[in-house]
Amino acid sequence: MALRHFLTLRDLSSLELNSILDRASELKRQQHANQVYQPFKGKVLGMIFEKSSTRTRISFEAGICQFGGSAIFLSPRDTQLGRGEPIEDSARVISSMLDIVMIRTFGHNIVERFASFSKVPVINGLTDDHHPCQLLADLQTYQEHRGSIKGKTVAWIGDGNNMCNSYMEAAHMMGFKLKVGSPKGYEPKPEFLAEFAHCVEVFNSAEDAAVNADLIVTDVWASMGQEEEQKLREKAFLTFQVNEALMALAHPECLFMHCLPAHRGEEISENMLDHKNSVVWDEAENRLHAQKALMEFLLNENAKRA
Ligand code: CP
Ligand code: NVA
Repeated sequence: MALRHFLTLRDLSSLELNSILDRASELKRQQHANQVYQPFKGKVLGMIFEKSSTRTRISFEAGICQFGGSAIFLSPRDTQLGRGEPIEDSARVISSMLDIVMIRTFGHNIVERFASFSKVPVINGLTDDHHPCQLLADLQTYQEHRGSIKGKTVAWIGDGNNMCNSYMEAAHMMGFKLKVGSPKGYEPKPEFLAEFAHCVEVFNSAEDAAVNADLIVTDVWASMGQEEEQKLREKAFLTFQVNEALMALAHPECLFMHCLPAHRGEEISENMLDHKNSVVWDEAENRLHAQKALMEFLLNENAKRA
């Protein structure tokens, strides 16, 4: 049996994805009821962060601790990863001492190379191309508030970035329609779009994408690693703010999500996070529960191989 990783959403089947989402809500109920559940005593998660993080780091670390295991935070600044030790060598060594590894980095090929030399499951905690863990939380949150997302319409407003790519995969796997509203030149890359013509439509207007949507999602205009483009992007994205007026074009029950951190006054209006249909705080909390369900799935799959 092959070693299972989670580098993009499509490393799971639709069936597995749905069962992880249901399990996430079940683990959430248990956690809220203060039930102790420690199936992974002695298991160690390694967390490699080449970019900053609040939610991803805390949710993974808290999650493995709640399961009875522990986590090691590894930054390139303090390890040999930052001094040029090859990914392949690092992967062999690091994975020989750990039970599961999470990586947040730049190029998606870095997590792929790490995974291909790893002896244990590898989770993508965000690359320049994908943020699949965030999608687990977003899908869980939609399901908890509105039921099945199948057949619904989701509007992605803003940059055709890593989050947008993961939304395209989710649309394909979960059976919803994705309307992407991006400024010219900032649409998702053609190589990602190519596969998803059946479920993704691109507009160069936020309004056209938002009409009748059941969920509106946005993200920062300049992602980590694009800080130098901030000023240029502020101009290009000026008419792509999610605000009360944009929400008014959508379905009355339309939810609002943002992976956070958010920039009030840029991609969202000052009060958007507090909009009556905003579920951003549940979305952030669900990172914990969704990733616990993911780690449980991967650790159990790996145990079956032994
Ligand atoms: N949404 C998200 O991944 O947040 P962090 O960058 O804080 O981990
Ligand atoms: N697109 C953003 C997401 C942050 C969680 C980034 O890559 O910086």
